[in-house]
Amino acid sequence: MVNYKELGLVNTKEMFAKAVAGGYAIPAFNFNNMEQLQAIIMAAAETKSPVILQVSKGARNYANQTLLRYMAEGAVEYAKELGWENPQIVLHLDHGDSFETCKSCVDMGFSSVMIDASSKPFEENIAITKQVVEYAHQHGVTVEAELGVLAGVEDEVAAEESHYTKPEEVIEFATRTGCDSLAISIGTSHGAYKFKPEQCTLDPQTGRLVPPPLAFDVLHEVEAKLPGFPIVLHGSSSVPQDEVDTINKFGGKLEAAVGIPEEQLREASKSAVCKINIDSDSRLAMTAAIRKTMAENPAEFDPRKYLTPARESMKKLYIHKIVNVLGSDGKAL
Ligand code: G3H
Ligand code: 13P
Ligand code: ZN
Repeated sequence: MVNYKELGLVNTKEMFAKAVAGGYAIPAFNFNNMEQLQAIIMAAAETKSPVILQVSKGARNYANQTLLRYMAEGAVEYAKELGWENPQIVLHLDHGDSFETCKSCVDMGFSSVMIDASSKPFEENIAITKQVVEYAHQHGVTVEAELGVLAGVEDEVAAEESHYTKPEEVIEFATRTGCDSLAISIGTSHGAYKFKPEQCTLDPQTGRLVPPPLAFDVLHEVEAKLPGFPIVLHGSSSVPQDEVDTINKFGGKLEAAVGIPEEQLREASKSAVCKINIDSDSRLAMTAAIRKTMAENPAEFDPRKYLTPARESMKKLYIHKIVNVLGSDGKAL
């Protein structure tokens, strides 16, 4: 049993309270490997932004939960080496699917866990979330829960349709579970294909697909029911079209990939939305840089030669999100 404080990590309690009051959001970036982690820490250290390192089930299967936890411990020391004296870093379980998974992360030193029982009936979601909260809070670990269903793939749970969070349910859910933050469904979804082309309109000038707007009315109703309560948005990648173009130019095949426009995420950041999850954009930046470097240097076989530009590209992306979209720069001096 290791407590997250021994690893130099923080939970989300104070971080979220400040973000809600200050009208900005904390970036929650998924990581699966060293290059992503280095890029996240370099970006956070350079901008002095609090940051949430997220570990999904896919990441645990790919890289091993124990190894990822030690990498996060190393990340705190690395951040200090980069001159960030007071790193504000959370290690968070993304989409925890059971009490046992959440418990194993709490016991291993994670400072925050998500229990995602959003696909279960309301009462079952409450029961399992409450069980996780009771255990996590004994160890000072904060808990994110989810109400409403995002379209697309949530780890192994795939939903055809999204079901917006019902604002009339949030008070009962938050009160009975004691969760610290709530992920809601307002039209975002996971992955690089967030909308079907028929849900979008065509911008005649650029020829690009324009997605339908997020349901800000639902967000505002939730805020009115739970004033100041930390709200989380999953599935918030913007799917930068220049990265998609680069991937396609160098042999990839991503058709009709569409994300959430950044202006809408900027607007959401100013509300009670205090955590914004971004994974796919980092995958796109990494893949675009690797494809380009490999195509332009066909004789190269040292992975460091193509992973260096990939890491640089991800760092640039993370800094852009922090400074221009979420507004969390300078909030962890
Ligand atoms: O919630 C979805 C995240 O993007 C993680 O996806 O399970 O493929 O790592 P993953
Ligand atoms: P994206 O697929 O939009 O990056 O969402 C990531 C996410 O919500 C992780 O939990
Ligand atoms: Zn998610």
